[in-house]
Amino acid sequence: MNTSTSQNQVMDSHSPFEINGKAILITIDGPAGAGKTTISRCLAGKLGYRYLDTGALYRAIAWAFHHAGLNPDSENDSRIEAFLKTLLLQTDCTKNLDTVIRVNGRDVSAHIRSPEIAMLASAISAKPAVRRYLLELQQEIGRPGGVVCEGRDMGTVVFPHADIKFYLDASCEIRARRRLLELPDNSGISLADLISLIQQRDQADSTREIAPLKMPDDAILIDSSDLDIDGVIARMEGHLRALARNRAIWR
Ligand code: DC
Repeated sequence: MNTSTSQNQVMDSHSPFEINGKAILITIDGPAGAGKTTISRCLAGKLGYRYLDTGALYRAIAWAFHHAGLNPDSENDSRIEAFLKTLLLQTDCTKNLDTVIRVNGRDVSAHIRSPEIAMLASAISAKPAVRRYLLELQQEIGRPGGVVCEGRDMGTVVFPHADIKFYLDASCEIRARRRLLELPDNSGISLADLISLIQQRDQADSTREIAPLKMPDDAILIDSSDLDIDGVIARMEGHLRALARNRAIWR
């Protein structure tokens, strides 16, 4: 049986990974700091796929609220909807799989990674109008396949029929340590601050009424606390090979 060998070759080559002649849709969900971004980009690169960072979409909307001086908690659903109608949100990834996000033509990619925007993104992500607005955009991007979609509700809400779903988790302290390494030395933010922020965001993201952070029933759980990037990717590749083998048999 040489299916797994041919899938190995596809994963290592520059032609996109296909099963039965089709590029597939992969979702990776999980809490903040579990390594979703790094892993999704790396997997997309290996498979020759695009990468969709949906957290960046929520952050870009948060930036737009901040920039307009609006507090989402003081606005009702229809006012939020009206504000969203004034926004043109565009996302793309470069050849290096860096996410580029534009709000009304302005590239805000460099402005959306601060802890302040992260907290605001968590707040606006609980607003039904925001989720409705982004649902359609995300589904449009995922429709042709050949994409790794990263977020909180990819496998549960946005792409319930994804070809394969992963749920990436890690302990709270490990996630805080990873976030600390991403911040500049002079950020003034301590590990304890980050642990507390991550706990608050986990709580907010998993208890909100719409699209709470939840592992999809049919997802494959990978705990990255004790795994490096290669270790996580190797596990995912193993599952992709198994999927390719099963589909080749059941076609
Ligand atoms: O992954 P991130 O830290 O960039 O996400 C920013 C916020 O957006 C996070 O608090 C949760 C929210 N989010 C969401 O609700 N659904 C998604 N699919 C992605 C992100």
